Amino acid sequence: MTAIDGKVIAITGASSGIGEATARLLAERGAAVVLGARRTHRLDELAQDIRDRGGRAITCATDVTRREDLDRLVGRAVAEFGRLDVLVSNAGISKIGPMTDLDVDGWSAMIDVNLRGVLHGIAAALPVFRRQGRGHLVTTVSTSGLKIVPHQAVYAGTKNAVRTLLEGLRQESTDGVLRTTAISPGYVRTELADSIDNAQVREQIRRNMDELAIDPEAVARVVAFAIEQPDDVEIGEVTIRPATQG
Ligand SMILES: NC(=O)c1ccc[n+]([C@@H]2O[C@H](COP(=O)([O-])OP(=O)(O)OC[C@H]3O[C@@H](n4cnc5c(N)ncnc54)[C@H](OP(=O)(O)O)[C@@H]3O)[C@@H](O)[C@H]2O)c1
Repeated sequence: MTAIDGKVIAITGASSGIGEATARLLAERGAAVVLGARRTHRLDELAQDIRDRGGRAITCATDVTRREDLDRLVGRAVAEFGRLDVLVSNAGISKIGPMTDLDVDGWSAMIDVNLRGVLHGIAAALPVFRRQGRGHLVTTVSTSGLKIVPHQAVYAGTKNAVRTLLEGLRQESTDGVLRTTAISPGYVRTELADSIDNAQVREQIRRNMDELAIDPEAVARVVAFAIEQPDDVEIGEVTIRPATQG
């Protein structure tokens, strides 16, 4: 038995990287996981693998830019498992590059996924959390918002916007119903660089990842740590980065 055993946990961006590692770890520790992302074949394979190992997992096609998809993800958790204990808002994209590229479409896409996607999750989960009298919102933000570096201005802006709105939500939720956690990873070995359109920047980030990155399982362990605390303990902000990252 762990404090995660029996919890119902929905995860966005569960088809790869940090979301996939988090789903595997939480399911291993006894949670029922509800997996959301757009690549449903990846979700289906992951859910099957979790079930083959004795865990509980279902999938739900989810594009976080669509509010109704988050309503459906949360609805699936409640319909299938009776409630939702935790929403891990993890889906994200990184269309980074110099501001002079004027990649307005990329900027908009990051705002839609990284910021609006989290807001859609809050809108879907908050009424359920309040009805239950309990709930936990975990988001994956980034060290990009803590140390501002070239090429990551808009990406960092979306992550810091999430950090800000979570703190505001936390301050409005001191009645003990809601816990909020913002996890800021540094370089993590995932598919995130695939979403970078600027080829030069993409190759640089891939080189940095090869050289520095930690495994997504390390971030999954932090998610589990935040979730397994007693109900009256909130892990607010955690930074996790490679020990060699500057
Ligand atoms: N890797 C790092 O170094 C690092 C560092 C700091 C923060 N982060 C953050 O960690 C989170 C997870 O990223 P990752 O590193 O694990 O990268 P990843 O392997 O590329 O995973 C990103 C996930 O987001 C999903 N996603 C993208 N757009 C989506 C949309 N519109 N709707 C639903 N899901 C969407 C992807 O699934 P589909 O494509 O199947 O929809 C995928 O499952 C992101 O928020 C990222 O910003 C990563």
